[in-house]
Amino acid sequence: MKVLVTAGPTREKIDAVRFLTNRSTGKMGYALAEAARDAGHEVTLVSGPVALAVPRGITLVPVESAAEMAEAVKERAPQMALVIMCAAVADYRPKLVVAGKMKKREGDLVLELERTEDILKSLGRMKPDGQLLVGFAAETDDLLANAAEKLEKKNLDWICANDVGRSDIGFGSDENCVTLLGRDGRRYGIGPDTKRAVAEAILEIVTDSGQ
Ligand code: PMT
Repeated sequence: MKVLVTAGPTREKIDAVRFLTNRSTGKMGYALAEAARDAGHEVTLVSGPVALAVPRGITLVPVESAAEMAEAVKERAPQMALVIMCAAVADYRPKLVVAGKMKKREGDLVLELERTEDILKSLGRMKPDGQLLVGFAAETDDLLANAAEKLEKKNLDWICANDVGRSDIGFGSDENCVTLLGRDGRRYGIGPDTKRAVAEAILEIVTDSGQ
């Protein structure tokens, strides 16, 4: 199977030396990409800036901003049998990017932000017949209800509801625990376990559902 996975955070520039980002380390996305490779799939990994080693046997496409990730993903997605969006993509970016280093002035500074593209929603609209589209929902409240809403709104086949209010799972940790929700109402609790084991379980369920 041709599989595309996204991982890591995005960086949204404020000026030449500052940016907005989040706490994603890429561990969950890289675990998914490596587990897919080891299951015999042909894997492309679109990754935001992370401190992880480049995985062997995987096509790595490094990107920085949400706009770059959108371009890289939308260009490749139509050829993929399975797309998993695990990246923590910024929802907002500064409306104006200052060319040099912004000078410090007296008083407060107000940054005006604008929405980025919802890449997963775009993928849900352009989904070819037979493609499996999987998202993640990073939530601190109403985990399952919010995840179910994203599954529906973004036209996904599966979504991994990830409680990111806990420090032992989610962002940055070596372990994770998710509830995998299917479009057909199926529900699987996965973990707590290593991100690699969680990745293997997600892939097994999702790829079985496509057969
Ligand atoms: O990288 P780690 O440190 O290992 O942490 C893993 C993780 C917590 C980042 C990961 O397990 C996870 O939950 N990833 C999803 C993060 C996220 O952005 O969730 P969200 O609920 O805000 O977004 C919902 C879905 O839409 C996600 O699949 C996201 O990739 C996608 N999205 C979001 C915003 C946007 N502009 N475009 C998108 O495609």
